Amino acid sequence: MNRVYNFSAGPAQLPEPVLKKASEEMLNYRESGMSVMEMSHRSKVFEKIMEETETLVRDLLGVPEDYAVLFLQGGASLQFSMVPMNLMKKPGRALYVETGSWSQKAAEEAEKYGTVEILASSKDKNFSYIPEIPAVTANADYVHITTNNTIYGTRITHIPETGSVPLVADMSSNIMSERIDTGNFALIYAGAQKNLGPAGVTLVIMKKNLIGAIPAAVPVMLRYGIHIEHNSLYNTPPCYSIYMVKLVLEWVKDLGGLGAMEDINKKKAGILYDYLDNSRIFKGTVRRQDRSLMNVPFVLPTDEQNTQFLKKAEAAGFVNLKGHRSVGGMRASIYNAMPVEGVQKLVDFMKAFEKGAADV
Ligand SMILES: Cc1ncc(COP(=O)(O)O)c(C=O)c1O
Repeated sequence: MNRVYNFSAGPAQLPEPVLKKASEEMLNYRESGMSVMEMSHRSKVFEKIMEETETLVRDLLGVPEDYAVLFLQGGASLQFSMVPMNLMKKPGRALYVETGSWSQKAAEEAEKYGTVEILASSKDKNFSYIPEIPAVTANADYVHITTNNTIYGTRITHIPETGSVPLVADMSSNIMSERIDTGNFALIYAGAQKNLGPAGVTLVIMKKNLIGAIPAAVPVMLRYGIHIEHNSLYNTPPCYSIYMVKLVLEWVKDLGGLGAMEDINKKKAGILYDYLDNSRIFKGTVRRQDRSLMNVPFVLPTDEQNTQFLKKAEAAGFVNLKGHRSVGGMRASIYNAMPVEGVQKLVDFMKAFEKGAADV
């Protein structure tokens, strides 16, 4: 069977050259005589992998000197807990922008550690837009945003003004997809399995001086300070996933870095949105100015048509297009690894489907 066009929201398609390189290096990584899966995380050769991966993150995202780059476990979901555990003072107070289920989960977790206020929300219209985020004047330990909402297909384009209040961002589904000014954020976190590599590692980029005194009862593995002190090697890290992140970031760098990546992503999303705007039967579900470059939800007039389309698409090699149950219909996740050609072919297929359904 040929490789399919995989529109999964995550774990997602990886760049083919990366998979090929990984397979070439599978049995014997750089004359070490072993696979990266088999080497000690304390070995020189693995230390070099860590160093190279961190340097790539720093170079691609322009990470300021006074920030730490961490490779942790537990997914973005563990960051929902670690952020309030480490950043909330006693008594704690944080402001959350509610733009979808992931931000709700993050806020719910924070409520266990202090007061959570919703700074802005788009819940009233099933999260189909990004709400206006007011300037932060109040005193708070941090403000939390989700820059790209994987399920609903929205994206924050105007980073809120938070003054001296640290800004924390869940970038799980749009990290490395476009240029950002990393210095505007006090802490960024992202699960790897969309744009960075396979599942199992979570990237955290944080201002080192952000962590204050946290209670001794907080488990050692959940303390940012410990991971900063040990350069993400307090315990055995997810070695192979980190190595894969390195290969993915080398691929991004070779393409020309985040500027080039952003251009490609805008081109891909443009092809799909232009078609959705002109189709008689397919419709996008998100307010135009808030559309994600990474996750594109769309619907047909009836559930029956959605089901029929998904079935035909799968048979034609376009897989994992089923939308999340809270939106319905379809969702095309077009992360960095999805080639322009994959989106073009999907649109050609949608056009053919529309023609066949001309009588609807
Ligand atoms: C924006 C966002 N945040 C958090 C998560 C949860 O990530 P994880 O499964 O790595 O805990 C996801 C998963 O899809 C996500 O899309």
